[in-house]
Amino acid sequence: MAQVRPDVVYFPVDLMQVVQEQPTLAQEILQKLMQQFEQQKLKPLPHTVFPLTDAIAAFRYMQQAKHTGKIVISQFSNAAPSLQLNETGTYLITGGLGGLGLLVARWLVEKGAKHLVLVGRRGVKPENAQALKSLQAMDVKIKILQADVSQEAEIAQVIHEIAQSSPPLRGVIHSVGVLEDGLTQELSWERFARVLAPKVEGAWHLHSLTKGQPLDFFVLFSAAASILGNIGQSNHSAANTFLDALVYERRAMGLPALCINWGAVDEVGAAVKLNISSRLVGRGIGTIPAQAVLEILEELLSDRSVQVGVIPIDWSQFGKPWANAPFFSLLQSNLVSQSSQDDTLSIRQQLENTAPEEVPPLLANHVNFHLSKILGLSPTAIINPQQGFFDMGMDSLTSVELRNRLQRSLECDLPPTLLFKCATVAKLVDYLAQTSWDSPCLQRLPQCHQQLL
Ligand SMILES: NC(=O)c1ccc[n+]([C@@H]2O[C@H](COP(=O)([O-])OP(=O)(O)OC[C@H]3O[C@@H](n4cnc5c(N)ncnc54)[C@H](OP(=O)(O)O)[C@@H]3O)[C@@H](O)[C@H]2O)c1
Repeated sequence: MAQVRPDVVYFPVDLMQVVQEQPTLAQEILQKLMQQFEQQKLKPLPHTVFPLTDAIAAFRYMQQAKHTGKIVISQFSNAAPSLQLNETGTYLITGGLGGLGLLVARWLVEKGAKHLVLVGRRGVKPENAQALKSLQAMDVKIKILQADVSQEAEIAQVIHEIAQSSPPLRGVIHSVGVLEDGLTQELSWERFARVLAPKVEGAWHLHSLTKGQPLDFFVLFSAAASILGNIGQSNHSAANTFLDALVYERRAMGLPALCINWGAVDEVGAAVKLNISSRLVGRGIGTIPAQAVLEILEELLSDRSVQVGVIPIDWSQFGKPWANAPFFSLLQSNLVSQSSQDDTLSIRQQLENTAPEEVPPLLANHVNFHLSKILGLSPTAIINPQQGFFDMGMDSLTSVELRNRLQRSLECDLPPTLLFKCATVAKLVDYLAQTSWDSPCLQRLPQCHQQLL
C-alpha cells in the first residue's frame, strides 16, 4: 500500500492487545459496529458459513479454493431451531403434573407429540388443574400414571406399561423435585434424603431402565442452585449436582442427554408458589418467563447442548458477591474488574471520611488502580508518580479512558484534556486533591483549586 499511497502514514493496531487490555472499550466498539450491521449501514464481507458440525466440509471447501471471501465456522445454526416430534412415539414426563411438567407437556403436543405419559406420586394439584384440562382437550392421548420415581419397581412398571400399550418411548423429560429448605445443621438426614430421592434415585432409575431404548432426547431439569449454591438449599444443590453429572456419563456412553440448570421460572411451578422472585430482589438475578423456558428448551434440544445454566443475571449487581466463585473462573477477570470498579464507586464516601492530609495518598491509590487496569499492569505494580503517562505507554485513547474512569468513579466533571495537562500521577493527584468538590462533606478539603486547565 505504501508504494501506491506514499502520502499516507500507516499504523499497525494490535486488536488482540486492545481486547485484552481494554475489554470495555472493545465491547463498546463491537456494540457500535453490530448496530451498524443491524441498520445495514455496514455490510459483511463476502463469506460462506458452515455449522461447526460440518467443519470438515468447510476445510475441504477451502482446500478446493472454491471460496470467495471468508469461510466462517459457526457454533450456531443459522436456521431458527424447530423441533418436530414423532407422532408415533411416546414422550414421558416425570413430574408431568407439576408446573413445568404441564407447561412442557403442552409444548410437546404443539410440536407434534400425540402420545404423552405424565407421572407423579399424587394427582394434579388445584393450581395446575386448568392447565391439565386444557391439555386434555388437545389432539393427544394422555396417560396419567401414579408412581414414585425414586422407587425402582414403580418406575419400571411405568416403562413396562409404555412398552405394552403405547408407541415406542422416544423422549424423557425428568421434571420432578421437592424442596425441604433449611440450614445444613438443621437438616436431618430424612429431610436431606427426601430432596435427593426423586432427583438422584429417580434419574438413575430412568437412565438405567431406558438406556437400551433408542431415545431422541433425555432431559433432566436441574436448578441454578447446583451451580451457584443457595442459602438453605444444600440438599437441593446436591440433588441437582447428581443430574449435572449424569448427563456427562450418558453422553460418554453415546446416549442422548441434556441437563438444564433453570433459574427461577415465572408464572408456573414451584418458584411461583414459594414467591422466589421476591427473595432474588437485589441479588442481580431475575426470573425466566414461562414462554422463554420453552423457546430455550427447543433451542438446546436442537443444538445438542449437554449442560446449560439458564439464569437471567444482571452482572453489574451480581458480580460483586460472586466474583470469587470457582464456577465463574472463566469470567473472573471481568467480574473482578467490575467488582473492583464497584468498590471504587465509593471513593467519594472514602474521601468524605478522610482527613485532608490523607486525601492525596487515597487519590494516588485510586489513580494507580485505574492506570494499572488500563495499562494491563498487575494491581501491585509500582508506578512512578513522576513518570509521564505517555512514557508509560498511554496514548490519546487510553488517556480519555482514564479520564472517563475517574470522572465516573469520582462523580465529577473532568476536562477532556486533563491527562495532557496533568501528565503524571503526581500532577493529576495534585489537581484532583485541590478540586472544589460539590459534596458538602468534602468542603473541608482545601478550596484552593486553580483553574489549571
Ligand atoms: N419452577 C422453577 O422455577 C424451577 C427452577 C429451577 C429448577 N426447577 C426444576 O424443574 C423441575 C420442575 O419444577 P416445578 O416448578 O414444575 O415443580 P412442581 O410444580 O413442584 O412439580 C414437581 C412435580 O414433581 C413431582 N414429584 C416430586 N417427587 C416425585 C417423585 N418421587 N416421583 C414422582 N413425581 C414426583 C410432584 O408431584 P407429586 O408430589 O404428586 O409426586 C410435582 O408434580 C424440578 O426438577 C425443579 O427442581 C424448577
